[in-house]
Amino acid sequence: DKGLAVFTSGGDAQGMNAAVRAVVRVGLYLGCKVYFIREGYQGMVDGGEHIVEANWSSVSCIIHKGGTIIGSARCMDFKKREGRLKAAQNLIEKGINNLVVIGGDGSLTGADLFRQEWGSLLDELLKDGRISKEGFEKNKNLKIVGLVGSIDNDFCGTDMTIGTDSALHRIIEAIDAIVSTAYSHQRTFIMEVMGRHCGYLALVAALTSEADYVFIPEIPPPDDWQTKLCTKLEQERASGQRLNIIIVSEGAIDRNGQPITAEQVKNVVEKNLHQDTRITVLGHVQRGGSPSAFDRVLGSRMGAEAVMALMEADDSAEPCVISLDGNQAVRLPLMECVKQTKEVAKAMEEKKWDRAVELRGKS
Ligand code: F6P
Repeated sequence: DKGLAVFTSGGDAQGMNAAVRAVVRVGLYLGCKVYFIREGYQGMVDGGEHIVEANWSSVSCIIHKGGTIIGSARCMDFKKREGRLKAAQNLIEKGINNLVVIGGDGSLTGADLFRQEWGSLLDELLKDGRISKEGFEKNKNLKIVGLVGSIDNDFCGTDMTIGTDSALHRIIEAIDAIVSTAYSHQRTFIMEVMGRHCGYLALVAALTSEADYVFIPEIPPPDDWQTKLCTKLEQERASGQRLNIIIVSEGAIDRNGQPITAEQVKNVVEKNLHQDTRITVLGHVQRGGSPSAFDRVLGSRMGAEAVMALMEADDSAEPCVISLDGNQAVRLPLMECVKQTKEVAKAMEEKKWDRAVELRGKS
């Protein structure tokens, strides 16, 4: 039997369950012994009841559920070598040397480091008598495939991360609901949406809700944004519009790299236009609820492709990430994608906005 484990790590995202389901079922179909690792890397470090064998029915009735049924966590222990030693020992004890990691760039980077260290971790475990010679010999190579689960759509290499589409649905539903009350009272609403340092959710939400203004991290507004914003809102009202919607990405910044907050925008509108203004912070509602059909299909396709990639990989294969390119599931080198994702962050830190947009565009 080939030992294969799947786990979810970092922030949850709708569609992760579809991916877990596909990994388990395709794994079983191809003759693997499939395990869940509960609570992400923490479960791998803690072992015991956190690593459990899965069967066909363990993943029945989960495709429609939000979140991740196997739990997720941001784990500090795995960042230390002793944590990774424990994790390796737990995997060897179960004969697991194929891993499907579902998470964001931090989780995928952790997986790559783990694989690079695998040989030395095993040497140390064998030397200390923590694993058997047989376990050492059987599991010399660790194969890893990553799936990007994140509502932020912030990972270079894939057109869509698992969860983004559902989060957008949630945002749009909320904006539509706000519009009716804003209309009644002729109010201006400032909606803060998630996305960390990526403006995708904010930008697409703005485009699809006819918002009047949007603030995103990759394209900070001109220095005189306060004037431009007020002029635009005034124009809209003058043309008969009864309300205004402004979307602020949680990572929005100005051209000096300083945060632009919903509160700040509200103050500008109230001070200059005396409009009745409210803020709505959507928060974790965006990550909750059931996945859209798109995310169910995306998670299922990605999960199936991940297992195929593991089964086809030779022992020396570098970890890959399953990405969506147009409508195709493709396998890309994991670390190249992580590197490009980090380059976007660096370009933004260095205030090279054009470069950041270009790199995001490439993803
Ligand atoms: O990465 C997903 C995300 O929801 C971001 O959009 C947000 O900034 C962050 O996670 C919130 O993290 P937490 O759930 O730990 O508060």
